[in-house]
Amino acid sequence: MITLEAINHRFSSCDMIKTITAKELQVGMYVKIPESWLRHPFIRNEFILSSAEQIQKIIDHGFDTVIIDTDKSLLNIESLEYVSHSDKDMTPPKVWDPNKLMTDELKEAIEDTKMPKEAKAKRVYESSLQLMGKMLESPTAENIKVSKQGIAGLVDMILREPETSGYLLHITSHDFYTYTHSVNVGILSIMVSKEIFKNSDAHDMHELGAGFFLHDIGKTKVPPEIINKPGRLTDDEMFKMRTHPYQGYKILEMANELSEESKIIVMQHHEREDGTGYPRRLKKGEIHPYGKIGCISDIFDAITAERSYKQGLSPFDALTLMKEQMLNHFEAEIFKSFVLLFNR
Ligand SMILES: [Fe+2]
Ligand SMILES: [Fe+2]
Repeated sequence: MITLEAINHRFSSCDMIKTITAKELQVGMYVKIPESWLRHPFIRNEFILSSAEQIQKIIDHGFDTVIIDTDKSLLNIESLEYVSHSDKDMTPPKVWDPNKLMTDELKEAIEDTKMPKEAKAKRVYESSLQLMGKMLESPTAENIKVSKQGIAGLVDMILREPETSGYLLHITSHDFYTYTHSVNVGILSIMVSKEIFKNSDAHDMHELGAGFFLHDIGKTKVPPEIINKPGRLTDDEMFKMRTHPYQGYKILEMANELSEESKIIVMQHHEREDGTGYPRRLKKGEIHPYGKIGCISDIFDAITAERSYKQGLSPFDALTLMKEQMLNHFEAEIFKSFVLLFNR
């Protein structure tokens, strides 16, 4: 049993980022492996530990120390304090069940009416990341169904709480994972859909939300070395990468949990107004408005994202770049509504 003192001793001084020995790892910790992607067997450099086998793999690969982020950990290190300071806090630490999607946590955060809006936005965002992370690790029909329910709750909150969603917009963090990108694109797209469709009830926002959040689900079928490759892809890699809209469509078709509209988002989010997109090089009126919304959010998130090999642009610089150099990719009216989100 690892004592709190032993853990504290190992920690560096930073609040959320700590260095610990690999032997001190526990299921539920958010771990960052301090090595290049090629030197370890995991799909990502950062992830939540979901099994003892993963910890053993880290040890077996010779990593003596690893970095953990206590803020993103599901077994929060701070909560261990209760072991030695039981008078301070009697709440038992939360132990994560790796088999469950995080819908309860997300629901709890969404339904909390007492929490200050900024803190609530942060919790909702983190729970959404965890939900999406688990779902993309195992995109089964059952997990798609459960995550769709979680997304519906989030969509309702975005529609009814403009202040919380305003904070949500500003905390969309940028690291290089498909699931962070999925959550960001989901949040941005629902906010712009609210703006565009506010006077119409012809749009099922829950279905739309599911489509936006799951738009890149097809990337689970693309080899991780292509997804995570820094810099330019070869023609062959690019070809494989460009299959992801169709692969995603197929996954959702098999799962049979989402409407045709949601699947259109998955299929069309890389089509461009001027016909330079993929997979079908559709143009203007051939692209569904949902696909056009997904396309704008997707590009915005990609150019504001921090990657291991590039810095992300600020939202202002990203919007300027999109306006000056990419306007022919987007439908002008939808792009205007998107820009408005950031001008409030
Ligand atoms: Fe995509
Ligand atoms: Fe995307």
